[in-house]
Amino acid sequence: MKIVSKNFGIKNNHQIDVAIKNGIYSSLNIVFKKEPKEIVEEVDLSGLRGKGGGGGATGRKWKMLKGEKKVYLCVNADESEPGTCKDRQILEKDPHLLIEGIILSSYAIGANESYIYIRGEYTTQAKILQQAINESYQKGFLGKNIQNSNFNLELTLHRGAGAYICGEKSALLESIEGKRGHPRLKPKRPEPDYLFGEDAIVNNVETIATVPFIIKNGYQAYREFGTACSPGTLLFAISGHINNAGVYEVPFAYPMKKYIEEFGGGVWKNRKLKAVIPGGSSTKILKAEDIEDLKLDYDSMREAGTSLGTGGMIVIDESTCMVKTLKNLLKFYHEESCGQCTPCREGSGWAYKLVKKIYEDNGKLKDLELLKDNSFIMNGKTICVFGVAVADVIDGFLSKFEDEFIEYIRKNNVS
Ligand SMILES: Cc1cc2nc3c(=O)[nH]c(=O)nc-3n(C[C@H](O)[C@H](O)[C@H](O)COP(=O)(O)O)c2cc1C
Repeated sequence: MKIVSKNFGIKNNHQIDVAIKNGIYSSLNIVFKKEPKEIVEEVDLSGLRGKGGGGGATGRKWKMLKGEKKVYLCVNADESEPGTCKDRQILEKDPHLLIEGIILSSYAIGANESYIYIRGEYTTQAKILQQAINESYQKGFLGKNIQNSNFNLELTLHRGAGAYICGEKSALLESIEGKRGHPRLKPKRPEPDYLFGEDAIVNNVETIATVPFIIKNGYQAYREFGTACSPGTLLFAISGHINNAGVYEVPFAYPMKKYIEEFGGGVWKNRKLKAVIPGGSSTKILKAEDIEDLKLDYDSMREAGTSLGTGGMIVIDESTCMVKTLKNLLKFYHEESCGQCTPCREGSGWAYKLVKKIYEDNGKLKDLELLKDNSFIMNGKTICVFGVAVADVIDGFLSKFEDEFIEYIRKNNVS
């Protein structure tokens, strides 16, 4: 079943005339006849969960707005995590679907100004998107009094400068404000985010691109797929040691093994599967045997001791050295820590140095204890969950592959 990828195969679908011919923007007629709160209710009833990694309920987030302040919708197209490459498909292949989703969502939450924050490295996607935005203005889908509805919407594409941390929603908002992309302290109780002193909603590209389907077909149609707690579909990505790396939309609760075999075409070079990092590099690694009966939904992944994340699976074959894999991942996190919190700034550096030392055959067994201590110190003691993610990556590798680390160290050492 395809919801957001339905038109991906259509030639020149990024051009507005082709997109309109294929049904994009047709939900505007429906939406402007309804009250904004009816749209919020429909999205809430659909159970739509945020597709940027956290899986928070979109409707509940929108309902936190009190209507007392101006509201901004900020669409998160930062997509910088290794293994996560799904939103770029929407940006390239159906940018008008995203814009349609932005119009509907902005109308629902009462936003007259919206931003798309796109990662700096997505130069091609930024060009395609800016062209699509320009076309949408020309056709009168953006701007003043859209389709005689009295609804105005200005949409700005904001390009990042290449920092992974700017995908974290509060760092993203700081960055739009022209400041350094440092995450903000979180409030005690859930409340709307803020931008320029007004309310802001941050949602992922795919989350927003799903809204037109819900509005056109009703919340029940969305709930026909997936499970009660993980309704609908997700653009799951697969990369690494796999025959058909790519992005394929399937309903939640699809069996992971079947996905790897059917869509991914199985592990490359006729090798055996060793492990899978299931939902972008920040999710805890699983062994081949862990995925035998595993389903791709939030609850099943939590029960398996990991998380669904963005659904970007990294497949690892039997020939892979786990010490080297962890070293490479930690190099990324060390370079991308924003440096604001000491446990994350220092901890990610120390973790990288320790695993590099082991990889370069200078490791001692006690380094593994140091590594565990280091992730304990990082975990839960920082402003954002970047530090938690690094600790989870380390803990995941050590809980599943500690034997391999020990053997690697023993090969060259007797301590
Ligand atoms: C380090 C870090 C990077 C993140 N990167 C992204 C990203 O690139 N895209 C995204 O949508 N969410 C990202 N998130 C999650 C966002 O903070 C936020 O939860 C999300 O954009 C909310 O949208 P959603 O509810 O539609 O998922 C990141 C979080 C962290 C901690």
